[in-house]
Amino acid sequence: MQIIQDISLVKSLCRSLKQEGSLGFVPTMGYLHEGHLSLVKQSVKENPNTVVSIFVNPSQFGPNEDLATYPRDLERDAGLLKECGAGYVFTPTAQTMYPDGFDTWVVPDKLASVLCGKSRPGHFRGVATIVLKLINITAADHMYMGLKDYQQLRILKQMVIDLHLDCEIVACPIVRESDGLAMSSRNSYLNPSERKQALSLYHGLLKARELFEQGERDCGRIIETIKKSIQDSGGRIDYIECVNPLSLQSVQEAEADTRMMLAVYFGKTRLIDNMALKA
Ligand code: PAJ
Repeated sequence: MQIIQDISLVKSLCRSLKQEGSLGFVPTMGYLHEGHLSLVKQSVKENPNTVVSIFVNPSQFGPNEDLATYPRDLERDAGLLKECGAGYVFTPTAQTMYPDGFDTWVVPDKLASVLCGKSRPGHFRGVATIVLKLINITAADHMYMGLKDYQQLRILKQMVIDLHLDCEIVACPIVRESDGLAMSSRNSYLNPSERKQALSLYHGLLKARELFEQGERDCGRIIETIKKSIQDSGGRIDYIECVNPLSLQSVQEAEADTRMMLAVYFGKTRLIDNMALKA
């Protein structure tokens, strides 16, 4: 497996890899877990070549967020990627991705004005910009992304349509710990008691789904169920919403594909999770 920092090297490498067939690409910020690796494994299965990027993208972090403390372990990540059969890892530097004079941004609009976009102003501008740059650098045919970050996935799928990109986004299921907590690099911030509290996210979502299966259609009551589970555990709610899966706008009446979306703080750690009302 090759680790490459240089942008022009990766560009020419990717163009020559594409002569062997489709190129799969998995963008990440590193500190990899089974969630990330599930994307890599799917790409390796579906494409003759797979490139994974590891880049903690400064432009998607707010001034009071965890850019400086975001966990990093390139050596361990490289070992895991090698085991998964990824051929190439792209690890650019912030200086080369955002050199002096950098001035052009991709600004998603309505889809980024709700949910995490409200609590993290500028976040999706940073995400859309870096992902477009990575797609342009790799010229990937297929990009693998997790449903864990549902709003991110929806925004980027729209970007691909709106900007006529020749890259298909493949949505992959949420990978959870054995007790149900959605895997996240940020779970490493949780102390043991916060780790227990954080289970209330999954339990709340499951209870809400059960309620829907029993016939409940009022989103207010569905949200109350999740709220109770989380507040009982001691979590501090940023938002809990039931949204249309395409527009991401809040809905009152629940349907099978309505998506429950939430962001909750445990201590200083902000976690997100989501689930469709019907499995
Ligand atoms: P990161 O949080 O490292 O996630 C990289 C990819 O892994 C994303 O597509 C995310 O949805 C997926 N992922 C994370 N946890 C997952 C889980 N438990 N199950 C399934 N997939 C999971 O998302 C980012 O990085 C960045 O915003 C990025 C797109 C790389 C742009 O900087």
